[in-house]
Amino acid sequence: MSRERKNIAAITGYKSGEQSVDPEIIKLNTNENPYPPSPFISNALAEFSTESLRKYPSPTADDFRDKVADIHNVKRNNIIATRGGDELLRLMITTFVNPGEVIGTTSPTYSLYPVLAAIQDCPLKAIPLSNDWNLPTDFAAKLNDAGAKLILLVNPHAPSGVLVNQEKIAQLAQDLDGLLLLDEAYVDFVDPGKNYDSVPLIKEIESVVILRTLSKGYSLAGLRLGYGIGPHQLIQPMLSKTRDSYNLDGLSQFIGCRALDDSTHALKNCELVRHERSKLRIEFNKLGFQVAPSETNFILVTAPQNHNAAELYLALKQKNILIRFFNHDGLSNKLRVTVGTRRENKQLIKVLKKLILAP
Ligand SMILES: Cc1ncc(COP(=O)(O)O)c(C=O)c1O
Repeated sequence: MSRERKNIAAITGYKSGEQSVDPEIIKLNTNENPYPPSPFISNALAEFSTESLRKYPSPTADDFRDKVADIHNVKRNNIIATRGGDELLRLMITTFVNPGEVIGTTSPTYSLYPVLAAIQDCPLKAIPLSNDWNLPTDFAAKLNDAGAKLILLVNPHAPSGVLVNQEKIAQLAQDLDGLLLLDEAYVDFVDPGKNYDSVPLIKEIESVVILRTLSKGYSLAGLRLGYGIGPHQLIQPMLSKTRDSYNLDGLSQFIGCRALDDSTHALKNCELVRHERSKLRIEFNKLGFQVAPSETNFILVTAPQNHNAAELYLALKQKNILIRFFNHDGLSNKLRVTVGTRRENKQLIKVLKKLILAP
């Protein structure tokens, strides 16, 4: 007899992309940054006092929060530091949504959202995106009708990479009855020419919390460090009531601070990713793939006619190249490809060319 809660017994859990440390494998499946993090980190680590680990760290990661607040021109009490962006998602749900209440999102979306909703025993109302990956005009109305208490919206979108502009986001936040968690895990890769900055929203609209992470733009997925930006009245209950007692270890706080000290390094890496992204898009187009207009460090491509996405995924895997195939949500003829280094992208295209042109 299972001793799990009924809703827990019913779920399969989040399935991470395959992880591999084999240097032979070109890993373009989990949207990691292809470039290393700031050298400030290794320099600082050489001087890190291991004696400091004897003591508990700052429970609310105050030095880190101060640096984040400075970057975004908000106050420390507008920031919560979390164990990856994923912890913020969990905190938003456990703090603001009762079991049984509706959580809203898009379809498709980040595949962790349904799992977190199910853990809290909440039904998920997922509104399909339009064919060009944009929000349907009645998105807010449908979620209000469903009584959605919290809406999880990833922007730029995963897995398509498409960005909704900030005017639309502002309007949406006004129109929604529920809280809006704006998941900006990939925002560091948005073309600066788009002038996208949703942070001012938290000063105007009291129902928005923004998720950020150091996993992507700062090349620190292995560290597990993210944060939320929001009005104090939404941040405070998570900070003082629902967060784990010391949710961020001292070493992560230390490394996070050094990474933020060298945000120029991250900006340069993101610029390189954008450059590679546009090259990759052209190469995929040449091979007959459709490519969604991405503002992230990945692209979603539709397999050419007469080619099967699942088979291409497996064939690439056999050649030591990992990309992501999702067999659901209208994605079964698509592949998600993380932008790699020049060398990795070239190898991917070389192998794909052989598969597509001479299958
Ligand atoms: C859409 C989206 N949101 C949030 C996250 C959370 O990232 P992390 O927990 O590594 O900060 C991810 C990670 O891949 C993601 O794809």
